[in-house]
Amino acid sequence: MSEGWRVTCEGLTVRYKTWESWTTALKDFEGSFIPGEITVVFGPSGSGKTTLLKAVGTLLRPTGGTVRYGERNPYELPRKELLNLRREVGISFQQPVFVPQLTLWENIELVLNSSDRLDGAHKELAVSLAEKLGIRGLLKKRPSEVSGGELRRASIVMALAKDPAVVILDEPTAYLDEESSKAVVDILKELEEGGKTVVVATHDPGLIGIAGATYKLRYGMVVGNALSKETS
Ligand SMILES: Nc1ncnc2c1ncn2[C@@H]1O[C@H](COP(=O)(O)OP(=O)(O)OP(=O)(O)O)[C@@H](O)[C@H]1O
Ligand SMILES: [Mg+2]
Repeated sequence: MSEGWRVTCEGLTVRYKTWESWTTALKDFEGSFIPGEITVVFGPSGSGKTTLLKAVGTLLRPTGGTVRYGERNPYELPRKELLNLRREVGISFQQPVFVPQLTLWENIELVLNSSDRLDGAHKELAVSLAEKLGIRGLLKKRPSEVSGGELRRASIVMALAKDPAVVILDEPTAYLDEESSKAVVDILKELEEGGKTVVVATHDPGLIGIAGATYKLRYGMVVGNALSKETS
């Protein structure tokens, strides 16, 4: 099992350019996400949560500041090293991304394959996650043949099946009922106990309640944080 890495952000800023103007979605974010801790990012819609998670998740080059995995800045790595680093980062997007022609299981296999982890142990992990999340019986279906909440749970399996060191989940309990949300909470706690670095964006009080550290965003800025067993 891969243990987590410390991920540190300094002055992280993201500005989006649209055809007529710039939007500053994240401004001077400072923070560390540490192994063995669940960090929750919350705040109103449009406050920059997804933007932060994408920038931290190596998918959105910031317009200012840095992200570091240990000492490594993913946005300065050669392509091959970046791909290696991404194997250790599992992301569930706010709008889950699937190949529509493939079944849920084939989509999971695709992610495992792209991380060089299409082996018995990781497939077993995928099945056990699907079991915990109550979607084991749906894995032969295509994405268009399952509900929004089922797809959300499948995207969590996709993020976690490769056993990544760093887990980034954007609104993992959106569309989920109480029982499924509790299954997500249980899985997050297991990840925490397993020493993973876990970053979650949410509006769900149930998830905010289990956080070791929190950042509250508003207009792209931190307006409240409760840090972390490490610093408190
Ligand atoms: N690709 C983009 N181009 C331009 N503006 C964007 C883009 N993505 C997001 N934004 C803007 O950046 C701001 C932050 O968006 P973001 O998606 O990070 O918010 P959020 O906190 O995740 O919101 P929600 O709770 O609704 O998911 C918003 O004002 C949004 O309209
Ligand atoms: Mg969002």
